[in-house]
Amino acid sequence: MIDLRSDTVTKPSQAMRKAMAEAEVGDDVFKEDPTVNKLEEYIADLLGKEAALYVPSGVMGNQLCLNILTEPGDEVICDREAHIFNYESGSPARLSGIQLYPIDGKLGILTAEQVEPYIRTTAYHMPRTKVIEVENTHNRAGGTIWPMENIIALKNLAKKHKLYFHLDGARIWNACIETGISPKEYASHFDTISCCFSKGLGAPIGSAIASSKEFIKEAYRVRKAWGGGMRQVGILAAASLYAVQHNRERLKEDHRRAKILAERIKLNTNLEINMEAVQTNILLFKPLKKTPADGMKLCREKGLLLTPGTIESLRAVTHLDVNDDDIMKAGDIIDEVFK
Ligand SMILES: Cc1ncc(COP(=O)(O)O)c(C=O)c1O
Repeated sequence: MIDLRSDTVTKPSQAMRKAMAEAEVGDDVFKEDPTVNKLEEYIADLLGKEAALYVPSGVMGNQLCLNILTEPGDEVICDREAHIFNYESGSPARLSGIQLYPIDGKLGILTAEQVEPYIRTTAYHMPRTKVIEVENTHNRAGGTIWPMENIIALKNLAKKHKLYFHLDGARIWNACIETGISPKEYASHFDTISCCFSKGLGAPIGSAIASSKEFIKEAYRVRKAWGGGMRQVGILAAASLYAVQHNRERLKEDHRRAKILAERIKLNTNLEINMEAVQTNILLFKPLKKTPADGMKLCREKGLLLTPGTIESLRAVTHLDVNDDDIMKAGDIIDEVFK
């Protein structure tokens, strides 16, 4: 099987397993796990923030940030295709008593002009806008990268209206490798950032958030309240540390392979693909003569795993456990199924 469902399907390499096996550990609830402490310091430094906190998942990272930035009844503005809106099981409402205000972006990207009219400033009977959220790269839009000018304009807008600015940077590493912009530079514009080690970087688990010392202290309390206090978890943090230290540069390979597959899909007249959206490791393509569900099933029968993308499209994601050969075979299977 060639598995292009997600960049989360990778298995830890031998070197990563060795780092895990040899990790020094302690009780992280007492802040005594040296490997977790090392990872948190490394991430805080990499993102240029005062502090970081290791968390089990990207969802927990985003939701912790939204929780500490808001009060119940507040509102968070995001793109309509945002992960926090579509794929986090209604957690803003469940966990923080807040609501989201989704706005239609272009390829997942919003402009300040578009967002400003939706910031609620006046009446007491309205929810209070508290946060603007950005997802970079943008999963459901097909791995698209936020232009820096949009980020800066939205940051200035947030400042003007005394709002917080959160980055879902699950795949910020992909944006950095593709643009040459450093993690620190992206992060400098945001109050809180979440990032993942278990996507393109290949760790089996793990995310982190980064922010001011004050916010991270509060997030540490909330993580515990949500059952996320972990003990000798350095054994897992070692995989995250290995991933972020060794697997960022090679994301270029995933982007190159995604472009190769996209070029093949473009040649198939029974498929539609927006090449403008092919920027990193995620591809969305629309079957014109089959339903996405039928297409996915036929691909699976021939040895290729895909997932639904948006309502009309299929999604393929490149990652460190697929090579050039796999991409060629995936292209052949797609051509055969959609001929
Ligand atoms: C953009 C984005 N944010 C957050 C997450 C959540 O990560 P996790 O699955 O680790 O909870 C994902 C997962 O795919 C994602 O794509």
